[in-house]
Amino acid sequence: MSLITILEHPHPSLRKVAGERDAAAIADPAFQRLLDDMFETMYAAPGIGLAATQVDVMERFMVIDVTEERDQPLVFINPVIRERSVDLRVHQEGCLSIPGIFADVTRADGIEVEALDRHGKPFTLAVDGLLATCVQHEVDHLDGKLFIDYLSPLKRERAMKKYDKLRRHD
Ligand code: NI
Repeated sequence: MSLITILEHPHPSLRKVAGERDAAAIADPAFQRLLDDMFETMYAAPGIGLAATQVDVMERFMVIDVTEERDQPLVFINPVIRERSVDLRVHQEGCLSIPGIFADVTRADGIEVEALDRHGKPFTLAVDGLLATCVQHEVDHLDGKLFIDYLSPLKRERAMKKYDKLRRHD
C-alpha cells in the first residue's frame, strides 16, 4: 500500500462533478488497490472520510471510518442519499482538503444511503449522527462541493483568510 497525495483547496479538481464508477469493473485489482491506498491515506492523515475526487479520481466512490478504534472501514461506490431526516445535526467539520479549517455545518441528522460495497454488492444503510454527517460531506465532494460552501459569506471569508495565512506559513 502507499499514501496518495490529497488535493487541497483551491485545486480545480475539487470542484468537478464525478461520474459513476463502472460497476462491472469493481473487482479490478488496480481499483481494489486504490481503495486500500485511500484507507491508508485517510488513516494516516488522520481523517474519517476520503472521497475519490480528493485524490484526483473523478469517479463516484469514497471510504469512511468514523470509529475511534479505526476498525470499521466502509466503502461506498456510486452512493445515493435516498432519505434525509427533518431533524438536523450541527457538527464542527473539517476536511483533509482544507487543512486547519473547522466550522459548524448543519446537515440532516439521519440519512438513508444506497451504494455498492467494495465487492460490488448493493447495500442500503440507515445511519445517523457522525456517520450521517460524514456520508453527506463525502457525497458532496463527489458533486464538487466543499463544507465551506455552507458558511455565511462573512464566516467563509474569515475562514479563507485564516486558510491563506496557514498556507503561507507551510
Ligand atoms: Ni472533505
